[in-house]
Amino acid sequence: MPAIVIVGAQWGDEGKGKATDLLGGLVDYVVKPNGGNNAGHTVVVGGEKYELKLLPAGILSPNATPIIGNGCVVNLEALFEEIEGLQARGADTSKLRISANAHLVAPYHQVLDKVTERFLGKRAIGTTGRGIGPAYMDKVARLGIRVQDVFDESILRQKVEGSLKQKNELLVKVYNRRAVDIDETVEYFTAFAERLRPMVIDATYVLNEALDRGEVVLMEGGQATFLDVDHGTYPFVTSSNPTAGGASVGSGIGPTRISRAVGIIKAYTTRVGAGPFPTELFDEMGIYLQKTGGEFGVNTGRPRRCGWYDALLARHASRVNGFTDYFVTKLDVLTGIEQIPVCVAYDVDGVRFDEMPMTQTDFHHAKPIFEYFPGWTEDITGSRTMEDLPENARNYILALEGMSGTRISAIGVGPDRDQTIVRHELIPTSSQTEAR
Ligand code: GDP
Ligand code: IMO
Ligand code: MG
Repeated sequence: MPAIVIVGAQWGDEGKGKATDLLGGLVDYVVKPNGGNNAGHTVVVGGEKYELKLLPAGILSPNATPIIGNGCVVNLEALFEEIEGLQARGADTSKLRISANAHLVAPYHQVLDKVTERFLGKRAIGTTGRGIGPAYMDKVARLGIRVQDVFDESILRQKVEGSLKQKNELLVKVYNRRAVDIDETVEYFTAFAERLRPMVIDATYVLNEALDRGEVVLMEGGQATFLDVDHGTYPFVTSSNPTAGGASVGSGIGPTRISRAVGIIKAYTTRVGAGPFPTELFDEMGIYLQKTGGEFGVNTGRPRRCGWYDALLARHASRVNGFTDYFVTKLDVLTGIEQIPVCVAYDVDGVRFDEMPMTQTDFHHAKPIFEYFPGWTEDITGSRTMEDLPENARNYILALEGMSGTRISAIGVGPDRDQTIVRHELIPTSSQTEAR
């Protein structure tokens, strides 16, 4: 004991990579429970910037063993490319392990992702185009190829045949594309087998054994609560469960072993891709947040849509995930704004909503009702305690805490690992764990 889960509380890019890196030095394992190379987690250590996509950011923590969990979908080409990129920068990737049950992203999943988006036209999701949705579709349809299949060519061939039978009909007859060749696909996967073999483990067994020994496991969620296929702004979501419950399924760590669920949340809000976003800014203030916050996607380079903090989203995320703590990031980006709006309720066609509406239609019609908080002009990037913060910044945090349903235990005041205010330790000591 214990396991701790890090979850994005908005629409992604909240700073989960930074939070993982901050805690990485205190844990024995970092497991990625969901998603694939659709993620983009940035870690800045001593001015050096790393951008992780498929790999957990925990790979940069020298004492932690990074694991890609069963709930992930793995693009093998992207995996080795990322490993090589890190090795070229002197990082040690030798401890990386991958669950035998994780699913694989095939080249045809990427093709299907792109043609599906094109066919959706105006209703397109704005996916990352990495084949994530089609790979999860195959998993649920029981047509997926798993990491372990790469080591048994006859099984692999059967599975590829099974998976391609229907897809080739679809590709040729509906999407007007070339059929995918079975032999080529089998060869594509087996070409990685020898490099992959030493990394593959029964991750659930390894992680639970570690917990039994009293070691600490950090689960680094990808994506975010409102991109969750069950709890997010469906259908404008990803195809996995990035919420805390999903982390349990995606790593094989039972819910009773998770003692902390830490929500990572920006001091404002961003979103990449399509879908509703009540506090979105369409004026020069949106551009200001985008520029000041460096809000351009790590993965696809797309500019992120920007808006104000939404307390209804924060409360909903607290509930869905059972958060024990919030880590508010990017407070420094708000420095210099005279009055900071925070969304405290929605106006839906003339009716006030104090909590997230039940239906998609109402959420699409939601207009933010703001409360305004006085800003500050002092540089806060050197603040390391609450007392170091200007009074108005402190009050802003306390106001968010009051309306977000969970205590705020850490505050980011810059991208670097050290640019953090810790109010409550996020890794519980054993006595705290027992008390829970
Ligand atoms: P993730 O996907 O949740 O890991 O987040 P991303 O890495 O995609 O985006 C978060 C961005 O904000 C990255 O560029 C981080 O380096 C940066 N960042 C994280 N925390 C802070 C903070 O407290 N202040 C500032 N200015 N930048 C931060
Ligand atoms: P991290 O882990 C932000 C978004 C895409 C799109 C939708 C579906 O860095 O926070 P997908 O390719 O997953 O089928 O796309 O989800 N999306 C993300 N947005 N951060 C991410 O990851 C995201 N991963 C997926 O933009 O709207
Ligand atoms: Mg990101």
